Formats: sequence, C-alpha cells, structure tokens
Amino acid sequence: MGNFRFLTSGESHGKCLTAIIEGLPAGLEIDTEFINSELKRRQSGYGRGGRQQIETDTVEILSGVRFGKTLGSPLTLVIQNKDFDNWQRIMSISAEDSTDEKSFTTCRPGHADYAGSLKYGHEDLRNVLERSSARKTAIETAVGAVAKLFLKELGIYSESEILQIGTSKNPIEFCNEIDKAKTDGDTLGGKFKVVFKNLPVGLGSFVHWDRCLDGKIAQAVMSIPAVKSVSIGEGESACEISGANFHDELFVEDGKIVRHTNNAGGIEGGMTNGEDLVVKAVMKPIPTLKKPLKTVDIKDMTETSAHFERSDTCAVVACAVVAEARIACVLADEILIKFGGDSIKEIKSR
Ligand SMILES: Cc1cc2nc3c(=O)[nH]c(=O)nc-3n(C[C@H](O)[C@H](O)[C@H](O)COP(=O)(O)O)c2cc1C
Repeated sequence: MGNFRFLTSGESHGKCLTAIIEGLPAGLEIDTEFINSELKRRQSGYGRGGRQQIETDTVEILSGVRFGKTLGSPLTLVIQNKDFDNWQRIMSISAEDSTDEKSFTTCRPGHADYAGSLKYGHEDLRNVLERSSARKTAIETAVGAVAKLFLKELGIYSESEILQIGTSKNPIEFCNEIDKAKTDGDTLGGKFKVVFKNLPVGLGSFVHWDRCLDGKIAQAVMSIPAVKSVSIGEGESACEISGANFHDELFVEDGKIVRHTNNAGGIEGGMTNGEDLVVKAVMKPIPTLKKPLKTVDIKDMTETSAHFERSDTCAVVACAVVAEARIACVLADEILIKFGGDSIKEIKSR
C-alpha cells in the first residue's frame, strides 16, 4: 500500500492487538462508536465459538486524534484481549515464566502449524498458532472502520451479504446447516458478497499490473485467513456466459450514459467504472474440528489426532465484515492516490 498504510501487531492470547495507521488526512471526524459497532459485527453471526461470548472488543485510540478529529499524524489503535487475564503466564514475555502449559505438537491440518513450525523453527506449535490465528482480523476490522469513516465522508458506503453456507443457498436453512455441522463435530464454510457504492470513476489503472484495482482487491481479500477464492462481479461464472450476454452494454438515458447490467462488478480495465463494486469470496470450512482430523505429532513422528482449541463452527458472517474492512483500506488508498490532499477539505474540493 502507498498512501494509506498500516501495520498491526499482537498475538491471539497476548495482552492486546495494535495498529498504526499512516496517511489519513487531517480533519476527519473519528467516531469511536462506529469503530466499536464494526468490531461487534465481526464478532457476530451464527456458529461462532466461546471466545465471542466472553470478549466484547472495543477500540482505544492512543494517538493521531484530538477533540474528535484526525491531526494528519499517525493513528495508534489498541484492542485489549480480555482473555489475557487467563493467559498471562502462558503468554508472558519474560523468560523466567517459561512453561509447557498449553504447548502442543500435533499439527492442525488446514492451519499454518506444519509449515510455520518448519519455517520459524518452532517446536511448540503454540508459537505458530498465536499469530496465524484469525484473531488479528479484529484490529484489521478497526483499521478498516477508520477507512470506512474516510470513505463515508466522501459519500461512499458498503454492505455485505451471505450467499451460501455449505451447500445451502437458502438463508432460511443457514442456521440448521450450522447446527447439523456442530452436532457432528464438523464445520462449514460459505460464500459472501461485498458491495461498495458511489465510487468515483477511475480508481486503479490499466497502465501497469500492480496498479490494477481488481488485483489489489483480490490480494486484500484472498489473504484473509480461510478465504480460498475471490471474484469480481460475475467473474466466477464468466466462462459459462458468452460475450454477447456477459458484457455490460452502454446506453444514453436523459443525456446520461447508463448500463442495465453489472456483470463486470464495477471494474473494467483495472479501474472503477462508476457502477457498484461487487466482490464475492469463498471461505473454506473452519479447520479446527471438535471431531479431530488425523495428523502427525512432530515431537515423535507418530500418527495421532489434531489439537483442538475452542473454535468457531462457521465464521462466514465475520469473514464478510473483515473483507469489507480490507477492501475499504484498498479504496481509501486509491482515493488518496488519485486525489491526494492533506486535509479532508482539500480532498473534497478535488
Ligand atoms: C473471522 C474468522 C474467524 C475464524 N475462526 C476460526 C476458528 O475459530 N477456528 C479455526 O480453526 N479457524 C478459524 N478461522 C480460519 C483460520 O484462521 C484459517 O483457516 C487458518 O489461519 C489457515 O489459513 P488459510 O485457511 O488461509 O490457509 C477463522 C477465519 C476468520 C476470517
């Protein structure tokens, strides 16, 4: 990312999650309640695990805001891990507190455990789990909420919808499907859609591969833990439709250029074209199963069952909220690239 940048830190059961955001213009109103409501959305959805019941995430802003408005300086955001009270000794930074409690060596298939242990040389897979966990998507959602506040100021807003849970495309069946999976000690994935409305034409560019907006969005969404496919508009079924029926024809109505379809999902030639931006993604089933999968214990190379830790049965609703947040960050960056400006007033005038 170029103009709107951020880094996050924090382990799943560590003291807190943090983010530093750089590049926001001065004068943007920061509504902490809105950020917290987005955090609440991420914790919602049928099929979530125990953690969402014991923790309600709230953000604290440590820098970059004065009297409710951004200063143009970096913002620091913090979310405390309320569960840290129960993990203080296990996640201690002090060598003196070293303990085997909560250590594990049985790789969970579908997680970062196996490759992560080889890559970083960790014998205790806890050291891989803690940062590879999707817990970090909480602070990313807070950063995305700040990006959304910036976009909202410019009249741009988003929504998301669950299209499929397991094999069911009928929302009335979704909860039953999740209940069934839970009873079986199994898990489910699904498909969701995110839409951004009222975007200006020309965000992104065709001139170079790394400036194409569809490519940037795909990277931002694909890197969400458990997301396995991303498509723009009707991209998933594009190969099944002929050119005559796929492409969105242009017409003139009341002196304005209009389209009656949006199969392109709002992007042509790597740029926004003024239609709604439509992104669809598939989340795989949660890889931690109550009825554990077969695996290997890396301590003694024996075949065994995977480690189980409190887990979601289905987290597609949360995943869609995270995707909205990630896309908001990409769009905030694109707005700053196209219009520039050090204050909200300056950007609006452009
Ligand atoms: C919002 C959200 C919640 C998740 N919750 C869990 C969970 O409770 N248990 C679990 O095993 N995986 C969960 N995952 C998925 C894993 O984090 C992910 O599959 C794993 O880190 C491996 O990454 P990969 O699937 O991208 O290869 C969740 C993902 C998201 C986006």
